Amino acid sequence: MAKPTHIAIIMDGNGRWAKARGLPRAAGHRAGVEALRKTVRAAGDMRISWLTVYAFSSENWARPKAEVSDLMGLLKLFIRRDLAELHQSGVKVLVIGDRENLASDIKVLLEEAESLTKANTNMNLVIAFNYGARDEIARAARKLARAAGEGRISLEEVTPDVFETYLDTAAMPDPDLVIRTSGEQRLSNFLLWQAAYSELVFMPCYWPDFDQRKLAEAIDIYSARDRRFGGVAPQDVAL
Ligand code: FPP
Repeated sequence: MAKPTHIAIIMDGNGRWAKARGLPRAAGHRAGVEALRKTVRAAGDMRISWLTVYAFSSENWARPKAEVSDLMGLLKLFIRRDLAELHQSGVKVLVIGDRENLASDIKVLLEEAESLTKANTNMNLVIAFNYGARDEIARAARKLARAAGEGRISLEEVTPDVFETYLDTAAMPDPDLVIRTSGEQRLSNFLLWQAAYSELVFMPCYWPDFDQRKLAEAIDIYSARDRRFGGVAPQDVAL
């Protein structure tokens, strides 16, 4: 099978990576940002058109205050330090998630990253930040209900194709491949609508150990899969 157009990654295991080395969790997250940098470059080299990364979930607010502020700081650092390189490499940055309740300096940075890179066409990097799929779906339903209430859409017009235009990912292709590191085998509220037919690949390594080779390995596993989207494989049609 052809290489995936869209790869989405649950970058899990920073904390365990740090613990295994007797380091604080913050060191794991810092190493996680390094792995993210390498992975974006590797995906660009492999001509992957879309890469979505789960950087902060709407449930991550439940972590200790210091860790939350650490993750916020790392996002700011990532954008401040890497935006110029991303832009130079022709990467378009997009952000999904609920932006309303984020600190204003973060909102400004996210908007700056999107507006600076909006005309780039080499690759799309989607950062899921303060993202939760149930929250995204509920926000979409709210927008749709408002449109219906104001008579801009009729109930008969509400189909899956129309519904998804209200999601944060409107106009983005669904992920072909979802990778989760650290050995956990669940989606944890990530792209629940969009991953309906995605191939899921779970890798045992912790996120800070992810690199170009691991990405190539996940793509090889994906390529060996048989995607049928609820239908039958073409070679089995006559059977
Ligand atoms: C999971 O590790 C990872 C996260 C909660 C956040 C992912 C964040 C990064 C890769 C670095 C930050 C990058 C940006 C751009 C903000 P975990 O802490 O759940 O690990 P554990 O399950 O081993 O404790």
